[in-house]
Amino acid sequence: MSLSSEREPSSASPSAKVTFPSLETKKRAAAPITALTAYDYPSARIVDEAGIDLLLVGDSLGMAVLGYDSTLPVTLDEMLHHTRAVRRAVRRALLVADMPFGSYHAEKAEAVRNAARFIKEAGAEAVKIEGVRPALAKRLVEAEIPVVAHLGLLPQGVHRMGGYKVQGRTLDAAETLVADALAMQAAGVALVVLEGIPREVAARITQSLRVPVIGIGAGPDCDGQILVLHDILQLTFAPAAKFVRRYADVASVMRDAVTHYADDVRERRFPTESESYHLSGEMRAAWEGAVAGAEKH
Ligand code: KIV
Repeated sequence: MSLSSEREPSSASPSAKVTFPSLETKKRAAAPITALTAYDYPSARIVDEAGIDLLLVGDSLGMAVLGYDSTLPVTLDEMLHHTRAVRRAVRRALLVADMPFGSYHAEKAEAVRNAARFIKEAGAEAVKIEGVRPALAKRLVEAEIPVVAHLGLLPQGVHRMGGYKVQGRTLDAAETLVADALAMQAAGVALVVLEGIPREVAARITQSLRVPVIGIGAGPDCDGQILVLHDILQLTFAPAAKFVRRYADVASVMRDAVTHYADDVRERRFPTESESYHLSGEMRAAWEGAVAGAEKH
């Protein structure tokens, strides 16, 4: 841990603040949109400074950093806590936060109150909700809360779906997905995330919508891609899904570093002289005198 304060905006920021209109401009220009999750300050800084367009504080944090075995136990307070940490790090990317299971499923008024907390208290710029909920999306948008719709494989619907299964594989299901996406766009959502659906269906939805479509396990024809940061870094303990590409093996790097540190402590190789603080000349002489005096008695 460094003792000095080191927070300065990165000079490497590639361009202006990302907004929903700027993402729509990217879609029209057929420029791919980049998105990743992040759940804490250091990872969010790295993701933002790397120039990623959209940063999602996903409820996947339940598995990625809290050790739950699904997203279902994640609470509103946990989501707000992590969103605040990420907000402190992010300068350029558009910051979206997931509404957790149970926080938008009962009364619409309660859902609006909960969603408003992400904007007002945690600094998110939009909330993401799972499923086809045009009436709720409309209420949120009327309350000036931008909404991202998550369609296809819905992790919060794992029990209904009977597992994490690819959706939209029959003609009926595929047509329903296209209609659902159009309904959510008509309700005012600013962006759609498609998870775990056939490439052909995602391509059709992407062509049909004016708003940007970001895919995860939805093939290469979406307007952009999102993955879970811990998956691409291999900082996970479960086998990866087919659509995940590993870009690093951070778990191995961490294991090696921690093992090396422990060996150094055990073998007294850490800390060295140069890693220790010292009394300055005068104080040192006085200290040595005092210690010598104490030892005589
Ligand atoms: O929670 C999450 O991480 C998501 C994905 C779309 C990445 O919802």
